[in-house]
Amino acid sequence: MILKVLSCSYRMHINFRHVTRILLNRTFSSAMQAEASKEIILLGHKYPTDEWTNVTPRVISKLGRNLHILLYHPLSLIRQRIVNYFYLQFHNRIGNPIFSVYDNLSPIVTVEQNFDSLLVPKNHPSRNKTDCYYINRDTLLRAHMTAHQTELISMGLNNFLVVGDVYRRDEIDSTHYPAFHQVDAVRLCTKDEVFENVKNTDELKLFEHRGVESNEKQGCHTLESVKVMEHELKNTLTGLAQTLFGSEVQYRWVEQYFPFTHPSWELEVYYKGQWLEILGCGIIRQEILQRTGTAERIGWAFGLGLERLAMCLYDIPDIRLFWSKDTAFSDQFKTEDPNAIIKYKPISIYPPCKSDISFWLPEDKHYSSNDFYDLVREVGGDRIQQVVLKDEFIHPTTKRLSHCYRITYRHMERTLSKLEVNNIHKQIKQQVSEKLHVKVR
Ligand code: DAH
Repeated sequence: MILKVLSCSYRMHINFRHVTRILLNRTFSSAMQAEASKEIILLGHKYPTDEWTNVTPRVISKLGRNLHILLYHPLSLIRQRIVNYFYLQFHNRIGNPIFSVYDNLSPIVTVEQNFDSLLVPKNHPSRNKTDCYYINRDTLLRAHMTAHQTELISMGLNNFLVVGDVYRRDEIDSTHYPAFHQVDAVRLCTKDEVFENVKNTDELKLFEHRGVESNEKQGCHTLESVKVMEHELKNTLTGLAQTLFGSEVQYRWVEQYFPFTHPSWELEVYYKGQWLEILGCGIIRQEILQRTGTAERIGWAFGLGLERLAMCLYDIPDIRLFWSKDTAFSDQFKTEDPNAIIKYKPISIYPPCKSDISFWLPEDKHYSSNDFYDLVREVGGDRIQQVVLKDEFIHPTTKRLSHCYRITYRHMERTLSKLEVNNIHKQIKQQVSEKLHVKVR
């Protein structure tokens, strides 16, 4: 696949890693920009649109669904299990939970919240229009729940979980959907808390002057404070993995890069014959805490994706099912006990239908596959199961590049007729040539 040099199945993290990606062009096809109207109303607020606007009606229709707090929804059951785990693990002297939970913060955030406050470099690929849904140049649908980290820390919170829907432009298959859900967490500790179980802590410090950054720590932290925090972070998260997947679960830590933490890791669990990344975490960049007036504390943070977990734990085969309003889906999760072991039984299997589309890319190279994927979603909706870039071809003499995509049409709840599929396919071809300025072959 040409878009991602370092391909990674876990989209929850790819965009915030330090990866080199070859994009045909980083600028978003002007054709997909919001048309004439100068403002849009989202969740009851008016926003001006501009040349950055690329939210699509289909993505907008997901705003406010709040699957993560919907009674009996599988994503909501997993949220409850995670929250309960934190309540049980962390409490004060009289037994009250110390983590507070925020699960209804608006998904519309500023570029400052989503990127700048988290030290994401100005030229980082995760900021691209090809990767995010922008409302305008300053506002977007949050691409990760970490977007709320600095505002909550600035409010004086030291231990919190944030849960909600996040939005990213990506490929189309059984594990990728433009909207999904994440839990993010932060824990900030004073020196006394970090060395709580140590006697005579006089020589122990959280910070050192003129320290040097290494693989193990940031320049400003002492090695002892980082090691204690790292230990608590990793213990907490392996404990969470064991609570969700069972105490026998095999896991491993992989070093990773995130702009907002150092050092950083990913936790992978071995599930059905393969290693799955389930979360990213690390020691919060001290610069973030300094900017929020919390310089005397050291902190850890993590973020995980709920769909990935729910698909494994409940055997849910396709990410589109989470959005289904069919009671044949939702009835299977009606339980008062979030720890209940449930295995999803497919309602019935409807046959897939595949069709290819090939086109010459514009000569000015203003094209990104994500523009095509969004357009296919807009036209075909949830009747689209998967789109793969099957073939690339460079014309020997004109040197023009052609892409061939295979679209798999398959509805989760009914059989699609050949006629219906042909019709959508025709519409896609038409719109692709009109809106993306490509030449359908
Ligand atoms: N926001 C990251 C993502 O979506 C995940 C993450 C990594 C969150 C490290 C964190 C963190 O809070 O500390 O890819």
